[in-house]
Amino acid sequence: MSEIFAVTERLILRDYRPEAVPPYVALSADPQVMRYLGRPRPAAECAAELAAIAKQYAAIGYGMLAVERRGDGAFLGICGLSVEHWYPDDLQIGWRLFPRYWGQGYATEAALVWRDHAFNGDIARLISISDVPNTRSHRLMQRLGMRLDHTATLTDDRETFAAHVYALPRQEWVSLGKLQG
Ligand SMILES: CC(C)(COP(=O)(O)OP(=O)(O)OC[C@H]1O[C@@H](n2cnc3c(N)ncnc32)[C@H](O)[C@@H]1OP(=O)(O)O)[C@@H](O)C(=O)NCCC(=O)NCCS
Repeated sequence: MSEIFAVTERLILRDYRPEAVPPYVALSADPQVMRYLGRPRPAAECAAELAAIAKQYAAIGYGMLAVERRGDGAFLGICGLSVEHWYPDDLQIGWRLFPRYWGQGYATEAALVWRDHAFNGDIARLISISDVPNTRSHRLMQRLGMRLDHTATLTDDRETFAAHVYALPRQEWVSLGKLQG
């Protein structure tokens, strides 16, 4: 069953509705979107990914969920939390929107909800990982209050890439809340 996780000023963050599957397949096949995410994913793999996300969300209450626009129900992309195999002890925050929705603050609006949700659990820090040249993603991390922690050489799908790993320690997240009043 599809359920709403959160509602913001412009967005609905939710589990995937059946009608989100074709746009998710399109998102995962878009070369601009997938430029730093390994190879574009075929439809069958996308269906398996969504099933895994649904199962994870039902079990532990987070995942890379759908981002919909409240005004018209458009599927903008995905955003949420995951644990990546390189950093099994850390929660990581991630995002992926169709290029036509870039530059409007939608990813930041969704990610702020997930950032605060992550810290409402018992975590020492939140991380975010992306390829060194993925500057749009790094700017988003900075808008969330994250800072570059280190650069690492990582391997995914047998491809090696250089990644920036950003982090937000719990104490700094607490300070952000105080700054925002
Ligand atoms: C990473 C990604 C989500 C960032 O998208 P984005 O549009 O730059 O990020 P936001 O939605 O937060 O929008 C922020 C931009 O909108 C602008 N903006 C316009 N209106 C805004 C508003 N109301 N509120 C906030 N920002 C607004 C901001 O100034 C900012 O632009 P800038 O970075 O040029 O200063 C997007 O590039 C993407 O999906 N990339 C492909 C997938 C990917 O690489 N994911 C990361 C893999 S680890």
